[in-house]
Amino acid sequence: MALSPEDKCNVKEFWEKLGENTNVYGTEALERTFSSFPTTKTYFAHLDLSRGSRQVRDHGKKVADALTLAVNHLDDLSEALSSLSDLHAHKLKVDPLNFKFLSHCLLVTLARHHPGNLNPEVHASLDKFLSCVSNVLTSKYR
Ligand code: HEM
Repeated sequence: MALSPEDKCNVKEFWEKLGENTNVYGTEALERTFSSFPTTKTYFAHLDLSRGSRQVRDHGKKVADALTLAVNHLDDLSEALSSLSDLHAHKLKVDPLNFKFLSHCLLVTLARHHPGNLNPEVHASLDKFLSCVSNVLTSKYR
């Protein structure tokens, strides 16, 4: 699935509106993922996953920063996320299904904080964007 020029525009414009808060949204999305899909926690068994923990916040920032990087590289996602793809597939061996869970929780989080900016077109573009990122991060799974 490729992002159309309109999708790219929607994603970039929406992301700019998030300002400095992306780390907060990354953290909330992770907390929602752990809560709604508890099996995802098995990948993070070495971390303190209690609500509001420093380690969850640190990881939320890393995920958010990676997504910001992706937004800035919509035309060369595979290259920009190549090392993260190696990490998730080869080292962490994250089952691709989990990316749907996190993507869903990211969308819910963004919708909760920015309801006015998430019209149906932007929603669809963000959903496609997260799907493209997930495809890259799981492309080396097998
Ligand atoms: C939008 C999708 C995702 C993005 C953008 C993303 C991004 C990242 C980033 C930036 C890191 C840190 C890499 C580093 O420190 O060099 C990371 C690590 C990690 N990711 Fe992901 N990730 C995603 C999805 C997932 C999913 C779905 C899982 C499993 C449920 C997962 C499990 C992990 C684990 C276990 C680590 C290592 C954590 C640690 O030991 O500190 N990731 N991810």
